Amino acid sequence: MKIHDIDGGKESRITLNDEEFNRVLGGGLVSGSVILLGGEPGIGKSTLLLQMALHLGQKVLYVSGEESQKQIKMRAERINAINDTCYILTETKTQNIFKQIQDVQPEIVIIDSIQTLHSDYLESSAGSISQIKECATEFIKFAKETSIPVLLIGHITKDGNIAGPKVLEHMVDTVLQFEGDRNHVFRILRAHKNRFGSTNELGIYEMQGSGLREVTNPSELLISQKDEDLSGNAIAATLEGLRPLMIEIQALVSTAVYGTPQRSATGFNAKRLNMLLAVLEKRAGFKLAAKDVFINITGGITIDDPAIDLAVVAAILSSNDDVPLPQDHCFAAEVGLSGEIRPVTRIDQRISEAEKLGFSKIFVSKQNKIGLKNTKIQICLVSKIEDITRLF
Ligand code: TYD
Ligand code: MG
Repeated sequence: MKIHDIDGGKESRITLNDEEFNRVLGGGLVSGSVILLGGEPGIGKSTLLLQMALHLGQKVLYVSGEESQKQIKMRAERINAINDTCYILTETKTQNIFKQIQDVQPEIVIIDSIQTLHSDYLESSAGSISQIKECATEFIKFAKETSIPVLLIGHITKDGNIAGPKVLEHMVDTVLQFEGDRNHVFRILRAHKNRFGSTNELGIYEMQGSGLREVTNPSELLISQKDEDLSGNAIAATLEGLRPLMIEIQALVSTAVYGTPQRSATGFNAKRLNMLLAVLEKRAGFKLAAKDVFINITGGITIDDPAIDLAVVAAILSSNDDVPLPQDHCFAAEVGLSGEIRPVTRIDQRISEAEKLGFSKIFVSKQNKIGLKNTKIQICLVSKIEDITRLF
């Protein structure tokens, strides 16, 4: 058939009562789509989906193979939201689940988790690759035939794969990841694959005593309010998905006690840190080989945006010289191997966010084409690392 003759139409979507979730999905839950939600144990997957179910007006069937009805009820009480038509089923055999679906006639089905399911068609035990594949196939077939969306929870292993079933990622329409540091309150919902939307968007939540709260202005929460200037802190204007986000980088540089200096980075790529240190050593003459260097991104989030390089460098220099940076300065640039300050994407958006949050100075690359006019914030154009060392 000629592509020209195919009727495109628009997929129908169920709008969730959760703006962050809607955005990550690309504008709501597509009818008949199958979504896999991955995440480490304890990160809040069950909470996220139960909360979504309880905030909906639609009839939802929440199938749990992991917890008793009582446990789920207790969680629902914490979340403190009511959907009169949210049904709970504790069952692991897919054939029985489909029987219950026939009786309940839900508009959305949630499975917690795909690893606990087993199908009578196979001998192997629940959680094995073949069972996971078979059960997922049954639900995908169900979703496509009935146009009822199905959300599958999947646990991920330490190395970040959705346990066993990498295979599942190819089969489902959307793969979402729920991540964060369990010891911190922030959780990030990210799309790794989305047949019905972009994978650039992400949702930010805060885990509270009463469920997950949508965070609409994350920058304010990620920057710690301090009364006095402390050395080793620098603010980076980064992007998470398409949203600008101001984050705080903390560095600690101290004299190495042991022969080999320690390098440790939390929330930042350790290899990249080593590269930045090598650049500093070579181009700016810093004797960092005899120093331990620790980097931490506050809030327990991980950033792989290269635009935070300059803030990392500034934080290291600030700690090394024990000179605090003014709290209203921020940075958005990549650092190259020869110490050049490189341009980054969406610079206007980053500058606007910094301005909105009351920063008075932002350091960006000379090569960045800035479209903004008449900004209140002062834009400092820098071209090499030496331009930054003048701050100290
Ligand atoms: P859970 O959703 O069970 O994680 P997962 O399904 O990914 O394994 O919840 C994880 C943690 O969240 C749990 O340790 C308790 C905590 N929690 C809160 O802090 N506040 C709440 O309102 C709820 C329901 C849970
Ligand atoms: Mg769970």
